[in-house]
Amino acid sequence: MTHCYIYGAGGHGKVVFHTLASMGKTITAFLDDKLTHEQRCGLPILTPADIQDSATYTIHFAIGNNRIRHALQTAWQQRDISAATAVHPRATCYPSTTIGTGNFLTAGSITDPDAVIGAGCILNHNSVVEHDTLIGDFCHIAQCAVIGGGVRLCTQCLVGAGAVILPYITIGNHVTIAAGATVTHDLPDNSTFPLPM
Ligand SMILES: CC(C)(COP(=O)(O)OP(=O)(O)OC[C@H]1O[C@@H](n2cnc3c(N)ncnc32)[C@H](O)[C@@H]1OP(=O)(O)O)[C@@H](O)C(=O)NCCC(=O)NCCS
Repeated sequence: MTHCYIYGAGGHGKVVFHTLASMGKTITAFLDDKLTHEQRCGLPILTPADIQDSATYTIHFAIGNNRIRHALQTAWQQRDISAATAVHPRATCYPSTTIGTGNFLTAGSITDPDAVIGAGCILNHNSVVEHDTLIGDFCHIAQCAVIGGGVRLCTQCLVGAGAVILPYITIGNHVTIAAGATVTHDLPDNSTFPLPM
């Protein structure tokens, strides 16, 4: 039997748990470096050291912070542990989309034809990734954000809740877009939009 663990027992981990359950997956336990000696969703919370390396298992990395999720998922994959992908049955994914490993597509998220989603991304509730858009690795598209057609979003970006990126715009690496913002022009690496007041 292949065990499936959810790494991260916080609020996001709970959403992941219910998504994997609705996919018919059986979860063995949560893993967390800090929240030990508690239960979450009726499951034990273990530390990563509790996993027996001889067992076969996959992990879904349920960490909202892009940088931390990237670091953890990359480190475990280097140990040949595969990152589980979670796609809610009520997520809409057209057949011509490409979805990388370890992604989380929540209920109500929509991924349009010929969109390409990298690895380790979060597409949160009711987010829309329109046609021909490229989402780089370890991005977080928050609730109700809309990424226009043909957008290029590089790695580890946070697109805040309800934000809109107009079509054919290029967003650099490690960019943060505020909740509710409307992006009308390209944004460079490591920027925050709009600039902090
Ligand atoms: C834009 C953002 C990154 C700024 O974070 P920050 O640098 O910590 O900014 P602060 O919280 O210190 O706020 C600075 C000022 O900007 C305002 N502000 C913050 N976010 C704002 C937003 N999205 N829209 C408008 N104003 C905003 C604050 O009210 C504050 O104004 P003040 O100085 O007049 O009181 C953050 O607020 C944000 O929108 N993050 C996205 C959150 C999200 O959607 N997460 C996903 C959900 S799970």
